[in-house]
Amino acid sequence: MNMLELIEKKRDGKALTKDEIEFFVSGVTDKTIPDYQISSFLMAVLFQGMTDQETADLTISMSRSGKICDLSDIPGTKVDKHSTGGVGDKVTPILLPIVSSFGIPCVKLSGRGLGFTGGTIDKFESIEGFCTSVSPSEFKEKIEKCGMLLGGQTSDLAPCDKYLYALRDVTGTVPSIPLIASSIMSKKIAGGADAIVLDITCGSGAFMKDLDSARELSRQMISIGKLSGKPVTCVLSSMQQPLGEMVGNILEMQEVVNVLSGRGKEDVLKVVLTMASEMLRFTDVGKDKDRETLMAMCKERIDSGKAFVKFGELILSQGGMLNSDGTPVFSDKPFEVMTVFAEKDGYVSSCDALSVGEASCLLGAGRMEKEDVIDMGAGIRLYKKIGDKVKRGEELFTLYTGSKNPVGDDRIDEALFRMQNAYEISDTPVDAPEEIFDILNP
Ligand code: URA
Repeated sequence: MNMLELIEKKRDGKALTKDEIEFFVSGVTDKTIPDYQISSFLMAVLFQGMTDQETADLTISMSRSGKICDLSDIPGTKVDKHSTGGVGDKVTPILLPIVSSFGIPCVKLSGRGLGFTGGTIDKFESIEGFCTSVSPSEFKEKIEKCGMLLGGQTSDLAPCDKYLYALRDVTGTVPSIPLIASSIMSKKIAGGADAIVLDITCGSGAFMKDLDSARELSRQMISIGKLSGKPVTCVLSSMQQPLGEMVGNILEMQEVVNVLSGRGKEDVLKVVLTMASEMLRFTDVGKDKDRETLMAMCKERIDSGKAFVKFGELILSQGGMLNSDGTPVFSDKPFEVMTVFAEKDGYVSSCDALSVGEASCLLGAGRMEKEDVIDMGAGIRLYKKIGDKVKRGEELFTLYTGSKNPVGDDRIDEALFRMQNAYEISDTPVDAPEEIFDILNP
C-alpha cells in the first residue's frame, strides 16, 4: 500500500477500505506521510466525499490515534455535548450545572476559540484562578467532588485530528462534511462518553451556512454514532445572529450568571433547555419522559437556584474564585469604548453573527492566530436582536475592550464598521427567527 495509490483512488471517486484508511491515519500520526500528500488527499475527499462506512472508519481510526479516556470507573451514563461552534455560544457553562444538578456525571472536554468563534475553555479561564488542565487521572476525583468537570482537550486525545485540522485550516479543506464529522466525533469518542448530544449550528456564524448542509452533517454524525456504538442526538440550532446578548469571554460569563440567576434571554434559554433535556433523555432520569417535561424540569433547576449553586461548586472545584454573592471573580473588568444608537425607527432585520464575531475578534476577544493572547474583557453587548422594534436614538450595541490591553484605534474603527454592517433596520415588522430548527435522534 502506498499513499499515492490512495490519493488516486479517492481522486477517482472510489471508496477506500478500512485498511487503507488505517494506513493513512497511522502515517499522519507517526508523520511518515509528507504534508503535500496529506493535503492532496484531503482535497480529493473535499471534492469526492466519503461513504458513511469510510467516514466511520476514519473517525474510529482517528479516535484510536492517541489515548482513549476510560470513564468506566465513574458510575452512571456519561453524556457529552458539543457544539459545532458559533458566536455568543455560552451554552456549556449554563447546561453543565443544570445536568449535573440531577446527579448525572458530566465530563466536558472543550476547545479554545479560533477565528470568529469563541471557545468554552477561554470563557472559563476568564475566571480568576480557574484551571482547565485536568488530566484523565484526576477525572474520578473531580467527579466525586462536585459531579462535573470542565477540561481542555489534551494533545494525546486524537492527535491525528489535531494534525489534520491544522493542515485543513491552511489548505482550504475545512468545509468538507465527512472531515468535519470525523474530526468532531473522533474527539468525542476518544473522550470516553457513552452518548453524545450535538448542537449543530446553522447560519452565517457557523460552519454550516444552510439547513441542508446542517442536516447532512447531522446525518453523518448520527451514522458514525451508530457504527461506533455511541448514540448521538443532533439539535439543529440557528446561528444567523449571535446567541444571547453578550459576545466575548467575561461578558458571556456575566450573561451565564444572569441566566443561572433567572434573568436569561429567551433564545439562550431555549437552546440550553433543549440541549440539557436531550442529554437527560439518555440517562435514567429522563429516559421515560417527554421533551416538554424534561425542559420544565431543567428550567426548575434554574428557578430554584440549584443550578447556580452547582456552577459555584464547579468553579471552586477547579481553583476558581467566587465573590461573597457566589458570582465568579473575573480577571478583568470590561471597559466600555462606545455605544452606538439607532439612526431610525423600524425593526431589526439583520444582526449578522459572522460580522459580530469578526468585530469581537478585532476588539481582542478572539484569536486571529493560534498563539494570540486573548483580551478577556473585550467584546460586544447587543441590545437589539432580529425582530425587535427599535426607535431612533435607542441603544443598538456597545463595544468593549479589556482595561489592561486595549487594541489600537484602527482595530476599534474596523470593529465599528463591521458592527454597522451587521445591523439592518427595516421599515416593516420582521419575525424573530426560530432558535431550534429540528432535533434528530438515532
Ligand atoms: N470542529 C472540529 O473539531 N473540527 C472540525 O472540523 C470543525 C469544527
